[in-house]
Amino acid sequence: MSKQRVLSGIQTTGNLHLGNYLGAIRNWVEIQQDYDNFFFFADLHAITVPHDAKVLAANTFNLAAIYLACGIDLNCSTIFVQSHVSAHSELAWLLNCVTPLNWLERMIQFKEKAVKQGENVGVGLLDYPVLMAADILLYDADKVPVGEDQKQHLELTRDIAGRVNDQFGKKKQPVLKVPEPMIRKEGARVMSLADGTKKMSKSDPSELSRIDLLDPPDAITRKIKKCKTDPVKGLAFDDPERPECHNLLTLYQLLGNKTKQEVAAECQDMGWGQFKPLLTETAVEALKPIQVKYNELMDNQDYLNSVLRDGAAKASSVANQTLVRVKDAMGFLPPM
Ligand code: TYM
Repeated sequence: MSKQRVLSGIQTTGNLHLGNYLGAIRNWVEIQQDYDNFFFFADLHAITVPHDAKVLAANTFNLAAIYLACGIDLNCSTIFVQSHVSAHSELAWLLNCVTPLNWLERMIQFKEKAVKQGENVGVGLLDYPVLMAADILLYDADKVPVGEDQKQHLELTRDIAGRVNDQFGKKKQPVLKVPEPMIRKEGARVMSLADGTKKMSKSDPSELSRIDLLDPPDAITRKIKKCKTDPVKGLAFDDPERPECHNLLTLYQLLGNKTKQEVAAECQDMGWGQFKPLLTETAVEALKPIQVKYNELMDNQDYLNSVLRDGAAKASSVANQTLVRVKDAMGFLPPM
């Protein structure tokens, strides 16, 4: 039996943080051998908020090195740049024309990001989830591993696929495969170091709110030293009054590859003065091999270029077949 297909991506909007790693990439690496995987760099999504043209390409390239440094295995996974496969933009247009506006207006991420941009909010930001649906549906993905914040976008993707199938599918032959979200319980929502009730985010103006995958040990040490804690002695998971405590213990658990029970027992009598150095050491050790590999890869740009070239070719051949199928179902005149 052929393997199920997995697809996911990350926006090329600068350095990745522990939320992106624990909520997404690390899970991809863990499951990849059991699936046929497509992981991409969402550069078209990165321009839905004002962007700097001078750094977009470099951010995309760096992200390729990060995926590989984190352990994406090219024997079972294809990595590619979204904008190198033009079918993404084209299917997004077709899906735009079947998606009701009010489905997009109720997306939480749109509302949150739109508030930040005021009057200048672009149409692309509203359309972000339709492009995301195109990304997923082009590959007939069975599973989409993401962090918790993407759940609503995946529900929308399922709704859009369902609508295309209802309008243009034949009884036993749907046009598009309806994908399933794959959201892990632990790590699905890594919170800010400055406020345990807010998600860790690339767009937070304070660098102290997040640990980036490429942060050197002294930055990690400084950020953990300054992170928000509470005055209670003894550390415990799942106390709604102590969101920072839960978040930091979860980071310690995931980065140290321990179980929740082990960490709960180890830390139950600890104070912050004892815990913070432990977490720092664990984070530094967990990120070190990724950083070493990243630097090696960045020294070998020809190799990375060839990986991206091969990835785009493989992704295009799959995506173009779906695009033809959708255009045919929607009644377009095929090219002569
Ligand atoms: P992006 O770049 O915003 O996020 C990339 C991945 O990181 C996860 N994530 C988190 N997980 C846990 N805790 C956090 N604090 C945290 N912050 C981010 C996100 O859930 C995501 O999995 N829209 C996607 C990019 C995308 C995509 C797709 C994903 C575009 N097309 C198709 C899957 C399938 C996004 O959130 O990017």
